[in-house]
Amino acid sequence: MSGSPSNEAHEVLRAARAWLAEFAEEGVTSFDVAPARPVAAPPGQGTESLEPRPASTASGAGLEQVRAHLGDCTRCPLSEGRTQIVFGDGNPNADLMFVGEGPGENEDRQGVPFVGRAGELLTKMIEAGLEIPRSQVYICNIVKCRPPGNRNPLPNEVSACREFLDGQIDAVGPKVIVALGKPASSLLLGRDVAITRERGHWNEYRGVPVMPTFHPAFVLRQYTAENRRRVWEDLKAAHAKSLEA
Ligand code: URA
Repeated sequence: MSGSPSNEAHEVLRAARAWLAEFAEEGVTSFDVAPARPVAAPPGQGTESLEPRPASTASGAGLEQVRAHLGDCTRCPLSEGRTQIVFGDGNPNADLMFVGEGPGENEDRQGVPFVGRAGELLTKMIEAGLEIPRSQVYICNIVKCRPPGNRNPLPNEVSACREFLDGQIDAVGPKVIVALGKPASSLLLGRDVAITRERGHWNEYRGVPVMPTFHPAFVLRQYTAENRRRVWEDLKAAHAKSLEA
């Protein structure tokens, strides 16, 4: 009988599952059950971090100078929980640059981005898929220190680290940037990005074409042929563009 309590419970469960799947696609992996915090953030710590920025103090410098300017950073609270800064990895003159979210546990321990499970998948897509050595591309994150419990970086943390990402982009001068997941895509596109809808579409940041795609950790969580195919299409398009004159 359609109106029976068990059918209703079934409907509620089905709707909840669909709702959770949507959140998962947006990169939301946990829910805060505390009362919602006010949306407004203090000056310098809020949504203005998504606005386009003029050249940073770290721009115009080589990678080593950007790293030196970062120093033993304590600009945001992430510094308190890190083992070490995870700056970046790869070819300082790469045509293809990957920007992720922030170091996880393995990255924090080793000081190298994307060396955990998500990193293994990314490396496999680059080396076995695109058939280029990982050392030929440049890989970094929007924040250089591990967020506790692998949560998404907060606006003030992203904001504090932004000049160093900008410095890395300017120093490497890639032909194409691949933004991995919602936080990196939102930062580079300057707005809240619905990654499921916007992946696969070209944008631009600091004059460089940007391809937003799913984060490899999301692909691992939702390991479907369709998600793997979508990321693969995005990476192939990014690689092809990076080979253009
Ligand atoms: N996820 C990221 O976004 N960056 C890493 O370096 C590792 C996992």
